[in-house]
Amino acid sequence: KIIVLDYGSQYNQLITRRIREFGVYSELLSHRLSAQEIMAKGNVKGIILSGGPHSVYNENSFDIDPEIFNLGIPVLGVCYGMQLMTKTFGGVVEASDKREFGQQPLQIKEQSPLFKGLDEEELVLMSHSDRIAELPDGFKVTATAPHSPVAAFESEDKPFFGFQFHPEVRASVHGNDMLKNFVFDVCGASGDWSIASFIDLKIAEIRELVGDRKVLLGLSGGVDSSVVGVLLQKAIGDQLVCIFVDHGLLRKDEAKQVMESLGGKFGLNIIPVDASERFLSKLEGVSDPEQKRKIIGNEFVYVFDDEATKLDGIDFLAQGTLYTDVIESGTETAQTIKSHHNVGGLPEDMQFDLLEPLNTLFKDEVRAVGTELGMPDSIVWRQPFPGPGLAIRVIGEVTKEKLEIVRESDAILREEIKNAGLERDIWQYFTVLPGFKSVGVMGDVRTYDYTIGIRAVTSVDGMTSEWAHIPYDVLNKISQRIVNEVKHVNRVVLDITSKPPATIEWE
Ligand code: XMP
Repeated sequence: KIIVLDYGSQYNQLITRRIREFGVYSELLSHRLSAQEIMAKGNVKGIILSGGPHSVYNENSFDIDPEIFNLGIPVLGVCYGMQLMTKTFGGVVEASDKREFGQQPLQIKEQSPLFKGLDEEELVLMSHSDRIAELPDGFKVTATAPHSPVAAFESEDKPFFGFQFHPEVRASVHGNDMLKNFVFDVCGASGDWSIASFIDLKIAEIRELVGDRKVLLGLSGGVDSSVVGVLLQKAIGDQLVCIFVDHGLLRKDEAKQVMESLGGKFGLNIIPVDASERFLSKLEGVSDPEQKRKIIGNEFVYVFDDEATKLDGIDFLAQGTLYTDVIESGTETAQTIKSHHNVGGLPEDMQFDLLEPLNTLFKDEVRAVGTELGMPDSIVWRQPFPGPGLAIRVIGEVTKEKLEIVRESDAILREEIKNAGLERDIWQYFTVLPGFKSVGVMGDVRTYDYTIGIRAVTSVDGMTSEWAHIPYDVLNKISQRIVNEVKHVNRVVLDITSKPPATIEWE
């Protein structure tokens, strides 16, 4: 594997990402790791020191265990990583009077194994304000750029390399080839990492760790926890106990589908908990969105507690934490568990160890694991669904009647999006009930009923989004079916705002 040490650059995830795409396993780890700890990871073929926002001479700038350079493992420093190597080996880094940002021509001056197969001039992305003023002893310049006399260097006798630019981004046109040269030619990695080998490895690891003890998993029906469930079931069978809480705010037939698919076909040991009355009574009379969210979040923990307390001899709590969740909370600090996964409210005398088998994977890799495990597209490609469920799609106070209207209209929308083959093109699509009434006419009779809003967005990560341009004929069919089939709806509108300024959900 190739270890990437994290010095805080926004592109760090991309480095691991690229290397995995080459079929070589790569992990982003804290720069605080010692040489020994890195060796303990086993089979480390190369180390990349990432970029970062600091200057190496800052008082609190991130450092490196110098022993890492005595491991006999090739090292590539990128941007900050290169400057850190310079400092470590006795060269000089200085603040440059010109910040260099954007695509720049790189002039390759020396034969270097990293530039194999490349032209003499290559476009690369520069993004730095410090630059190398004096080479460390025993290093030579291999490339220059307009404002970087040392745009790339390498050691004369050791496999140590530095790039001032970012090879991992697309704006570095042949950056991928440079990374490949490092990973394969210099480090000698083999390129046989795949999702199938990941699964085999994880299963072996889980079996060894868990032994004959028991694991508890809170199943939400979402992609991540479902994949964890099926993976654990494969590894430890009935030593896995799942709790599935139906808070009465799920989509149409969702609870049934989870039980049939995960419980039936995949044989997961699931304890279903119907807590809908409990949630609905807590939500009675509450219309403030934040208060609704808080009530649901808390109640979830209470229900989970109640069920978990009934179980005996559980040693591990499994969670569907992904790589992005870990990275977003920082490799620096201990992981904070996302609030909707929160187990902080569990009784203090219940001591669990956390089991997070997907915490080195990206979302699309988790989907690939699910598919490899034989899970159907309907689970693996499920759109994101918020923890508070339909409660935040009924604007204002939640009632059974309103939930039913949202649930039925949502089912129609999903069916028609599926029929139109648009499922994978749209990130998220659902209906909302704003809660006001307006006048309509149906069969010569005046109606005074609810409006349904259609929300459909495209997005990469949910942080920003655009409204999805669903074809008019599909929209027309959806609208007609909703007013005809869902009682108490006489009008359908389309939400055409992006995020920002709107959010994806209405509450
Ligand atoms: P917003 O509405 O903030 O939503 O634009 C961004 C994405 O997050 C989902 N979402 C949630 N997911 N618990 C979740 O697990 C929540 O409380 C929650 N609130 C919003 C939302 O569906 C969208 O995908």
